[in-house]
Amino acid sequence: MTGSTARRVMITGANRGIGLEMARQSAAMGDEVIACCRTPMEAAELMALARETDRVSILGLDVRIERDMKPIAAGFGRALDLLVCNAGVLSGRGGVQDPEQDSRAVEDTLMTNVAGVFFTARHFLPHLLAGGEQRGTAPGKLAIISSQMGSSTRAGSGAIMYRASKAAATNLARSLAVELASQNIAVGAYHPGWVQTEMGGQEAAVTPADSAAGLLQRFAALGMGSTGVFEDYTGAVIPF
Ligand SMILES: NC(=O)c1ccc[n+]([C@@H]2O[C@H](COP(=O)([O-])OP(=O)(O)OC[C@H]3O[C@@H](n4cnc5c(N)ncnc54)[C@H](OP(=O)(O)O)[C@@H]3O)[C@@H](O)[C@H]2O)c1
Repeated sequence: MTGSTARRVMITGANRGIGLEMARQSAAMGDEVIACCRTPMEAAELMALARETDRVSILGLDVRIERDMKPIAAGFGRALDLLVCNAGVLSGRGGVQDPEQDSRAVEDTLMTNVAGVFFTARHFLPHLLAGGEQRGTAPGKLAIISSQMGSSTRAGSGAIMYRASKAAATNLARSLAVELASQNIAVGAYHPGWVQTEMGGQEAAVTPADSAAGLLQRFAALGMGSTGVFEDYTGAVIPF
């Protein structure tokens, strides 16, 4: 991709919701998109997108399963300009006494929203670094889709383990921003807005298209001067 402004972008959880919309818009801007999802054979909308444009390819990736991710990442021979950790679950909308928040739901929440971000960042870090090394440009950037529900300053009730998992996802972004600064990798945490998806519900305030467009602009603005940022899809700063 040398000599062009197009980028190579990898997005997890790209088969529906905000991830699918980011994949669609990123490809429409000319980027090469590696759209990850855990069950490609069931990803009808994503498969249709990949048929429409050769700028989108699909990669099977369950962010919870590190033993599978490791060989997938090792066999992925391309440098990345942007890695978007978007995959997430909301397993239980209640509080401390919500019976839905059983150990299985809690495990899924923490493994997907926290460990999944960590595994993805860990195993695709070499591909972000390779961007700079192979092309003599800056390395790739890392964007973590968190949520303002993980903000301790804006603490609320409900979805208590989801809130905790997103607090941890934001914390991972901050720690990675510090750890990776010496390697010139910029890292940001993002709140996509309250978005009309399966997770957000149809009464949500923001369309997936507006959220994705805003997020892609924020990723473009991310640099070493702003690494460690926690902001929403409009660029408004979110308190930790
Ligand atoms: N919607 C909102 O209002 C809102 C607000 C704040 C933050 N967020 C965050 O934004 C991100 C996207 O959410 P969304 O609204 O687009 O939700 P969504 O429509 O429910 O989509 C979630 C995506 O994550 C994928 N996913 C879940 N577990 C996975 C795993 N183990 N491995 C790989 N992919 C997995 C899903 O794939 P499957 O189809 O295989 O399940 C799906 O593609 C999430 O991190 C969410 O927490 C959303």
